[in-house]
Amino acid sequence: MSEAPAQPLSGGVWRKPCVNIGILGLGVVGSGTLQLLQNNQAEIEHRIGLPIRVKRIAVRDVNKPRAVDVDRALLTTDASEILDDPDIDIVCELIGGIDPAKGFVMRAMRAGKQVVTANKEMLAKEGEGLMREASERGLDFQFEGSVGGGIPIVQPMKNALSGNQIREVLGIINGTTNYILTKMTHEHADFDEVLREAQEKGYAEQDPTSDVGGFDAQYKIAILSSIAFSSPIRINDVYVEGITRIQKRDIAAAGELGYVIKLVGVSKRIGADQLQVRVHPALLKHSHPLASTNGVYNAVLVKGDSVGDVMFYGRGAGAGPTGSAVVGDIIDTCRNLRLGATGRVPSASMVKRTIQPIEEVLTRHYLRMHVLDRPRVLASIAGVLGDHNISIESVVQKETHSDQAEIVWITHNCPGRSISAALAAVRSLQGVVSIENWIRVEE
Ligand SMILES: NC(=O)c1ccc[n+]([C@@H]2O[C@H](COP(=O)([O-])OP(=O)(O)OC[C@H]3O[C@@H](n4cnc5c(N)ncnc54)[C@H](OP(=O)(O)O)[C@@H]3O)[C@@H](O)[C@H]2O)c1
Repeated sequence: MSEAPAQPLSGGVWRKPCVNIGILGLGVVGSGTLQLLQNNQAEIEHRIGLPIRVKRIAVRDVNKPRAVDVDRALLTTDASEILDDPDIDIVCELIGGIDPAKGFVMRAMRAGKQVVTANKEMLAKEGEGLMREASERGLDFQFEGSVGGGIPIVQPMKNALSGNQIREVLGIINGTTNYILTKMTHEHADFDEVLREAQEKGYAEQDPTSDVGGFDAQYKIAILSSIAFSSPIRINDVYVEGITRIQKRDIAAAGELGYVIKLVGVSKRIGADQLQVRVHPALLKHSHPLASTNGVYNAVLVKGDSVGDVMFYGRGAGAGPTGSAVVGDIIDTCRNLRLGATGRVPSASMVKRTIQPIEEVLTRHYLRMHVLDRPRVLASIAGVLGDHNISIESVVQKETHSDQAEIVWITHNCPGRSISAALAAVRSLQGVVSIENWIRVEE
């Protein structure tokens, strides 16, 4: 317990001696959360105006070594000891995945408990129902840790920025892919080589599909979009493309033209009720605010109609940063409990909006191709692009070896559909050896 016990602040409806917390999961995030609650207990309790106590922690294996000092008597393998304990006020779900996490969260809510989670997969796939349940019961359901690790982004969007109409959310929201692309850029290395090194250093999972395939970022942009646009975004609404086909030559060619390549999550409002929600690699100008977000860092740029551009930057994962987000949510929930004001900020008020198909999304495009170094090949490709109403911002041709050349095009804004159709026609032109890559260019 704290050295200087918190004096309950005057006012409020809270009558118990302390707020009791049950934690489900004591892995990376659970340990970071417990560590922070222990390290800063006195300050935290003073900020809340009430004592708090971790009453029980559910894990799979009570004998496993832990990254945090924990009283072993608190551990249990039976989550019901938390979910069915009427004395537990807040449940922190830090297990991950859908099953059993979602069932545990539902049970906690149905028992009238406030819930804090960092579970992006559960939020992205099942968030709508969980938010509805919490709001119907007047409960807090907080999930700052689910996006951007330690970066405060969910709370600012729900509170400080909530007077704005959000126009756009653009983020680098996956640390593993950002680490890989940064290494490929700085060390002129191939994807496979950097991925192997990232796995050895623990920055990438042994099965890296969720990160390099863009699926982790897909969950996060779905969550951010739901809050930004108060709209239910289903996981299948989000177009997703990972970084596995980015070659070191693309990074070099983009660099020569003044761009970096990043995996971005983009969510934009188009007109009154249409949204774009997408995850894909993109070229960003060196001067773009997100372009210098390197390594495992994350950044999110939010554009509001009144505030203009706001940028959030920090560590997107890890025990300390994610623990910071979870503890922030616990503190907020405790304050609401003290004042009898839980459910005060709804998780999201849902207005259905249509999603613009990716083929219709207007961006500039980067196209890289290999051709035979012969007269009229470049002109014939330009002709096909023109036939598809694609106008060219810049084109660079370079000799690669004796009889071949590489051509890199940057187009003006046009829909992806035009590029797909044009590339199909370009492929069959005499003198075209290969289409090496097509990547969107983000403003
Ligand atoms: N890691 C990050 O940097 C990070 C960042 C942001 C968000 N998140 C999210 O935070 C959540 C937790 O991630 P993590 O990295 O901390 O996972 P983790 O290290 O794998 O920890 C999961 C914990 O859940 C426990 N557990 C599993 N099944 C259980 C069950 N049926 N009953 C009780 N406990 C159970 C495990 O127990 P044992 O320890 O006994 O096996 C373990 O302590 C996930 O939703 C993840 O997406 C993680």
